[in-house]
Parts: sequence; C-alpha cells; structure tokens
Amino acid sequence: DKHLLGTKGMTAGELTSILDRAAYWEQYPVKVSNGLQGRFVANMFFENSTRTRFSFEVAEKRLGAEVLNFAAAVSSVQKGESIYDTVRTIESMGVDAGVIRMKPNGLLAELAQKIKFPLINAGDGNNEHPTQALLDLYTMRKQFGEIKGLNVAIIGDIQHSRVARSNLWALQALGAKVSFCAPQGMQAAELAGHAPYVTIDEALKADVVMMLRVQLERHEGTLFGSAEEYRAAYGLTVERAARMAPHAIIMHPAPVNRGVEIDDELVECEKSKIFQQMSHGVPIRMAVIERALS
Ligand code: CP
Repeated sequence: DKHLLGTKGMTAGELTSILDRAAYWEQYPVKVSNGLQGRFVANMFFENSTRTRFSFEVAEKRLGAEVLNFAAAVSSVQKGESIYDTVRTIESMGVDAGVIRMKPNGLLAELAQKIKFPLINAGDGNNEHPTQALLDLYTMRKQFGEIKGLNVAIIGDIQHSRVARSNLWALQALGAKVSFCAPQGMQAAELAGHAPYVTIDEALKADVVMMLRVQLERHEGTLFGSAEEYRAAYGLTVERAARMAPHAIIMHPAPVNRGVEIDDELVECEKSKIFQQMSHGVPIRMAVIERALS
C-alpha cells in the first residue's frame, strides 16, 4: 500500500525503515538530488498549515520533484466543489502523488479506496498526523539512541489532537510507554485503555514531555477556564520545567501558544527540541514521499 494514512497498524519495521531513510537524507551532502525528476507531487491543503506544507514542499524540491501547490481559498472549493472531486481532478492531470490535509474525520480512508495515486496524510481532523509523529520519533531516537523503553508524557488537548493519536500508535509500536495528562474536557473517550491519564506532577517525570497546543479553533464552548487558569493547571511553566529530569526533553508540534501551554522562556531553552522537530520534518517527508513513489 503506497498510501500513508496513519501510524495505526504500522509495524516497528516499517516505522524504523522510514526513520533510517530520513537519517540518510539528513546527512545527504547536497541540497537537491534528482531521484524524483519528472515526477509530479501535489500539496492539497484544505486546512491551514505552515510547517507541514513548507517542509513537504522543501522535501519534494530536494528530491527533484515537480511541485504543485493547491490552496483551497483560491480554488473551486469556494464554488462548492467537494474534496473528492478536487482530488480526482488533480489525479486526472497525471500527478503522481498527493499530500493532503483536511478537516473531516473519516474521509481520507474513503478517498484512499477511490483514488489511485498515493495519498500522504498531512493531518486529517483529529484522527492522525503520521508525518508529525514520524518526525517526533526521529527527534527522540536522535536524542536517546532508541525509542524502546522511553517514557513519553503527552500533555494537553488530547481530544482534538491528531498528533497525540499518531504518536500513541507509533510510540507503542516501537516499545515506548505513553501517558496522557489532560483536563476532563480535553480527554479522549475512545482512547481510554490505550494509555493512562496521569497528574501533571507525574507527567513531569517522563523522559519526553510533549506539550500540545490548546486548539481553540476546534473547541465548541470553553473546555477549561481561561488561558491563565489553563497555564496554572496544565501549562509547562518555568517552575515545572525545573522539576524535569536533567536528561529529559521538551517537545511541542507547534504552532505554540506562548504563555498558555508553555512559557515563552521555555520554547527555545536548552531542553526544548521544538525547532529541531521542525528541521527533522524535511528528511522525514523526503523519506515518506520517496516511499510513496518508489
Ligand atoms: N505541526 C504542524 O502540523 O504545524 P502546521 O499546522 O503549521 O503544519
């Protein structure tokens, strides 16, 4: 299967082969190779993005592919064209692979049944964001040597987080221990039994403290008080970060709400790998595109 819909169901071997190939690309001595010369890749973002969209584009260009960028705001989606008809249209023009981000849950699996070119999930609803999890795993493996046995605490808006879900499945496949920490209104009922919920004090003992963005655009009503109340109860404050183990690291998929889920001073502190995560997005996406088109 050339599609990359999610990390759920991926084996340790599949995940590791992508991480290994990304390590190859991270070391690659020249910026642009010609491996995908003459191949066309479309980036189809039906939902906003900075990191994922740009790092896919950099990855595609580094592989020598021809890149097409689709933006929903200036497309016939504005005339009511469906996501399926849009993707089918792009496929019909001879494009070789599509990177896709969209809001509806469940639609990607349906599209993957009908669309023949490989689809790479760049984030679907609150379901999965597999390339984010892969770059997160890559960052952890680079830091600690291996994923197996790591304690990873994922803190924040679990319910709305495709990053939490993709990390959960991938980390468990590689033998890490995942715990969640979230206020009641941000817990995910369907994940009950997959990872325990722990207190913030317990979460701070982990090797990896992964903070999630409070996703206000996905909330219906207030899920947990004001920004100040959230920070006081669940934020990674300077005081809390000082209690983390000396070897432990801070991660966040970004964009970051500075001063809400993480203090401003911590975003670029020594323990923080947030900008390294973004750098790793490029070699990971090179590996993923190559896999789709091989
Ligand atoms: N981490 C992430 O997916 O960021 P973007 O929404 O900017 O792509």
